[in-house]
Formats: sequence, structure tokens, C-alpha cells
Amino acid sequence: MKKKSFYLLTYGCQMNEYDSRLIAEILSKEGYKEVKDESKADIIVMNTCSVRKHAEQRVVGRTGDLQRLREDKPGLIIGLVGCMAQNLIDKGEKIKGVDFMVGPDNYEEIPRIIDGLDSLDSLAMVIKKEKTILYEGVYARQDNSVSAFVPVMRGCENFCTYCIVPYVRVGLQMRSSKDILNEVRGLLKKGIKEIILLGQSVNQYDDSKVDFPGILKMVSETSVSRLGFFTSHPYYTTQKLIDVIAEGENIYKWIHLPLQSGSNKILKKMNRKYTKERYMELISKTREKIPNISLTTDIIVGFPGETDEDFQETMEIMKEIQFDFAYMFKYSDRERTSAYNLKPKIPESVKAKRLAELIEIQHKIIRIKNEQLIGTIQEVLVEYKGRKNNGWRGKTKQNKIVVVEGKTLPGEIVKVKITGLNGWTPCGVIIDKGKNT
Ligand code: SAH
Ligand code: SF4
Ligand code: F3S
Repeated sequence: MKKKSFYLLTYGCQMNEYDSRLIAEILSKEGYKEVKDESKADIIVMNTCSVRKHAEQRVVGRTGDLQRLREDKPGLIIGLVGCMAQNLIDKGEKIKGVDFMVGPDNYEEIPRIIDGLDSLDSLAMVIKKEKTILYEGVYARQDNSVSAFVPVMRGCENFCTYCIVPYVRVGLQMRSSKDILNEVRGLLKKGIKEIILLGQSVNQYDDSKVDFPGILKMVSETSVSRLGFFTSHPYYTTQKLIDVIAEGENIYKWIHLPLQSGSNKILKKMNRKYTKERYMELISKTREKIPNISLTTDIIVGFPGETDEDFQETMEIMKEIQFDFAYMFKYSDRERTSAYNLKPKIPESVKAKRLAELIEIQHKIIRIKNEQLIGTIQEVLVEYKGRKNNGWRGKTKQNKIVVVEGKTLPGEIVKVKITGLNGWTPCGVIIDKGKNT
């Protein structure tokens, strides 16, 4: 029998991007063929996110749109996987137009489910919900020739009160350093230049023999050209980690350190386990050791009970720290989380106003920071050619995206002179081939 073709659609964070490649590996091993055009697929797998209401609404909308493909292809299978699928399974809910649902811990069952679908006409679900599993020895099928994610852990049990992740990715499991290094070595053999270690709270890594600074150092001692990690929790950020970043020649001088709020009252209600003073101290220590480090963050505005004064504290700390980049969100009420029961809720209009104010100031900061790069020479890892032939996209040692002109190839490290900004993206010209790896 002809094996079916599949198309993957990914929403959500880097962990979901990794997981989509894991699903690609699991299906390919069973003889299914990946296609890059959804209209050519026999199976569409939507890997979904639950972190904000909007993320779920987009998936519901897209599922509706995909139904038209069934007209030409009556046997089309549409599967919902990932965090939103797990959330629906747990709540006993379903959405229209989906043939199967599988959560993040049961991807190895997808081929079996698809095989069984011919004999079923109702929605198939994997109800079994185990603790997070590690998919030991199963490595994601990469489709990018330069960069790859490698998880060091799966699941989360920090229970920040706004966050649904610990409910849909239950428990915290550490991969063994052996399995991590095996995956890394396999990627390097295939020519991958950049590795980003992943975890919801990546610097909490500890497999009882190796801690996070330890595994970071071990990976940095391979032949990898560029090494980063994502997302760090401020609570687990230690001097030892800062030292390893400082010393690792191939480690990005960048740390993503979600602050979430500048108000101690709100941080406490969020269960973030640090105060703004402790966070500031961490920033000072990091900048002291690595003066040119790029700092990025996540902020939530409009958490239940956030007053104008609390929000002003967030504004102040943003001005003080001057982050190189920030992901900024309006609080989204998630059922099952403990903040869902907190009051008073902040009206949508107030959240929108606060977000706009925050974005305005942060965008100014980013522009100023990027302007400071004009005239400097940067070592850039070239990733791919931009659309419309407008230069190559690459990353500096601070993990900043730049657009460069000149002769090069994906995976090369080139020396670039930054000549200006396009929007706020620094642009430049290649002045030297630099170190080719
Ligand atoms: N584990 C990572 C990522 C979690 S999700 C971390 O700890 O940072 C990424 C970001 O989404 C979070 O940092 C937070 O800023 C935001 N987020 C999570 N839940 C949210 C919610 N209910 N409403 C709005 N933003 C949320
Ligand atoms: Fe969510 Fe907090 Fe875990 Fe991040 S650390 S995934 S914000 S519970
Ligand atoms: Fe990621 Fe969204 Fe799940 S942020 S872990 S895909 S809920």
C-alpha cells in the first residue's frame, strides 16, 4: 500500500518547532513522506500552542479553513497535536473538523492512530496522559542546514500562576547528558553550525551528574560554531552560568531572561521566585562580567490586580535595564491556572493601553541600541538569503539579526561592517570571509 504524505503546521514556541521535527522523524521512519505544500498532503498535522487564548483561536480558525481541502480530498486526515490538543483532551473538549488529537507526550503513537483511523469515523484521542516523556534516542529530523534546537529537558513544574505549560507538559524530566551530546554530535556531523539548547526553564537543568553550566560547557567543547540557550529562569541563573557564557568563545553573548513584571507585588502573585532587586542584581553581575551582552526578556501587562503604579514600575525598570529586545504580551486568562481565580481582572482596554505604552518605549530602546552598532565590525553567522534578493540574513555574536550584502553561503561566518538600519534591523557589507568553518 502506498504510504501517505504529511504536512506539518507549527504554532507556539521553539519547543513546538523542535517537536514538529520530532513528529517528522517518527512519521518518516514509518514510511510517511513529508510534503511542503498542504494541498498535496494526505495528512495535515497541526502542532498547537495553548499559552494565550489568541493562540488557540488562531488554530480553531485555521482548522475551519482547512476543511475546504476535504472537497478535493475526501480522505484527508487532520490531526491536532501539541499543547492545545492536550488541553482539550484534559478538559474533555473537541473542536470541529479534527480527526485525531495527541498531546506532547504521545507522539510515538501518531502512526498507529493514523493507521487505525480508516476503521473509525469519530475523533481519535490518546487520553493516556503520562508524565512528560523524553523520547530517548529519537532525534528530530532537521530541515534547516545551519541551525538546530536541542532540548535538554521536557515539561515544566515551576507553576508561574499565569502559565498553562505545567498543565499540558506535566512534570519536569531531564535528558541525560549522554543523549544530549549524542544528538548534538549527530547534528554537527550533518554540518549544523548553530545549536540552541532548549527548555522551558533551561538553566534549571540538572541530571544529578551535570548541571546547566556543565552541559553548556560540554556542548561548547564540541566543534559547534555558535551555541545559545533558551529560556532561562532568573531564579536559576547563577554566577557559574555567567562565567561559562563569558568564557565560551562559541557561546552567544546573549541571555533571554524573562522579567514578566517590574512590581514585586505582581512578581509574587506570579510565583516567579525573585524580586525586582534580585533581578537587577543579576543584570548588574552579568553586565559586569560580559559588558557587551545582549539581554532580552518577556513582559506581561495587565496581570490580575496590576495597578497603574505596578505598571509604572515595569516601565521604569525597562527604561533602566534597556533590553536589546522584549516580547511583550497582554495577560491572557487561562482556565486551569491559578491566576484564573485571581481578581480584579484588568479590563481589555487598560491592558491594550499599557501594552502600547510599553511597546513604544521598548521600540525606541531597540532602535537606539541598534544604532550603536553602525560603524562596528561584527562576526556574522550567515543563515539564508532573504526574500526578494535583499541580502543575506545572519546573526552576530550577540545573537542579533542582521542583513548583509556580499558573496557568501549559508553556514559561513563572515566579518561585516554595519552601515545602517533597515527599519531597526542592522544592515551591512561583508568585508572579510572571516573564519570559515
Ligand atoms: N518557559 C518560558 C516560556 C513560557 S511561554 C518562560 O518561562 O519564559 C513564553 C512567555 O509567554 C512567557 O514568558 C510569558 O511572558 C508569556 N505568557 C505565558 N503565559 C501567559 C498568559 N497567560 N498570558 C500572557 N502571556 C503569557
Ligand atoms: Fe510557564 Fe513559568 Fe514554566 Fe515558563 S517557567 S513554562 S512561564 S510555568
Ligand atoms: Fe510552547 Fe505554547 Fe506549549 S508556548 S510549550 S507551545 S503552550
